[in-house]
Amino acid sequence: MRLTVLGGGGFRLPLVYGALLGDRTEGRITRLVLHDVDAGRLGAVARVLADQAAGVPDAPEVTLTTDLDEALRGADFVFSAIRVGGLEGRAADERIALAEGVLGQETVGAGGIAYGLRTVPVAEEIARRTARLAPGAWVINFTNPAGLVTEAMSRHLGDRAIGICDSPVGLGRRVARTLGIDPETAWFDYAGLNHLGWLRGVRSAGRDELPRLLADRELLGSFEEGRLFGADWLQSLGAIPNEYLHYYYFNRETVRAYRDAERTRGAFLREQQGRFYQEMERPGAPALETWDRTRAEREATYMAHNREAAGAGERAASDLESGGYEKVALALMGAIAQDRRTTLILNVRNRGALAPLDADAVVEVPCLVDANGAHPVSVAPLPGHATGLVCAVKAVEREVLAAAESGSRERAVAAFALHPLVDSVAVARRLVDAYSAAHPGLGYLR
Ligand code: G6P
Ligand code: MN
Repeated sequence: MRLTVLGGGGFRLPLVYGALLGDRTEGRITRLVLHDVDAGRLGAVARVLADQAAGVPDAPEVTLTTDLDEALRGADFVFSAIRVGGLEGRAADERIALAEGVLGQETVGAGGIAYGLRTVPVAEEIARRTARLAPGAWVINFTNPAGLVTEAMSRHLGDRAIGICDSPVGLGRRVARTLGIDPETAWFDYAGLNHLGWLRGVRSAGRDELPRLLADRELLGSFEEGRLFGADWLQSLGAIPNEYLHYYYFNRETVRAYRDAERTRGAFLREQQGRFYQEMERPGAPALETWDRTRAEREATYMAHNREAAGAGERAASDLESGGYEKVALALMGAIAQDRRTTLILNVRNRGALAPLDADAVVEVPCLVDANGAHPVSVAPLPGHATGLVCAVKAVEREVLAAAESGSRERAVAAFALHPLVDSVAVARRLVDAYSAAHPGLGYLR
């Protein structure tokens, strides 16, 4: 089996490679093709992979290329994990939004829209080329904003485009641990859009165990989402929201925390990751060790401003181990390639699973996965307020897709203006101007 990774010089690639190295199953990935627009980044990551593979028999053979067509031809699976505009772009997204007093997070609010507007045209071009050069390949999208980008790709690849995020898995794992149940055998009733979903039930041995958690304030205070949102709010909701809903439910506080911060997340990562790639240019630098140190720091500071705004303290040690996104990716590939039936929470076209969204809307729901792909499981409708949010954000995503397709500045303004976290059409217009001036990738908007 051959796996191609677009954005193969990305920092998280060694996590995926580590999972591949540990995979001894029949039909595992034996060839890994890494594509990146930046050969220097490919070289840096290749050094880490070489350290990881040392002493491992039958390690997947790694090829590096900057030629997209060459990378796609012959692929069985394509991971798309690109970052259009780099971390410099992410930092600009945050800065410009915050200057208008709105959120600039890379997937939520104004920042997510800006990132989506410059990523969708690139993702669609990749999808078109994949459909032509590797028509049998399955495309697994990690590129944020993952739900929107997966929907853009699905317009060319249909249900062969599947989006992945580790946040629902992480939430499920934390809740299961808190309840003392095995996450492998539990059924997580989770639904919504990417970074906009709610866990409404956890069924284990035929019983819903979530009410037991919601009734126990001490248990609620003992894990990440409980500390972020507070027991009172979780009890009011009667569900556990995805951590990214913190930006909605505590918008004023998170915007303030971001504004007051010495550096935004994007600016921090630009420097932190920049140091790693620079260090990898030095001959003799310990690659795996440097990478792992950098990774640990990145994990420890994840969502730090949110935790600070909520007084939630440090992340739990158990949340600092990786094992989220690469595990989902491996399980997904195994299920498809070997027909090893499994259930995973994925981003796929709705096909009636979640009312009232249309069939082509990409949603994040539990899916049954087998050799025929990922089949969304029909789930109970969300309560009114959650349905409202999901519909509003999906409408925003559709404006982004329309803007990318038509090049219409009007549609881009509508995307910002209709977002629940952008509070004025005038702000939306200024955001489009400022983002267009900052990002060459938005030059298509007229
Ligand atoms: C979580 C999210 C991802 C995001 C990642 C890294 O896993 O689900 O979408 O890419 O965190 O966030 P960071 O702020 O470190 O880039
Ligand atoms: Mn995610």
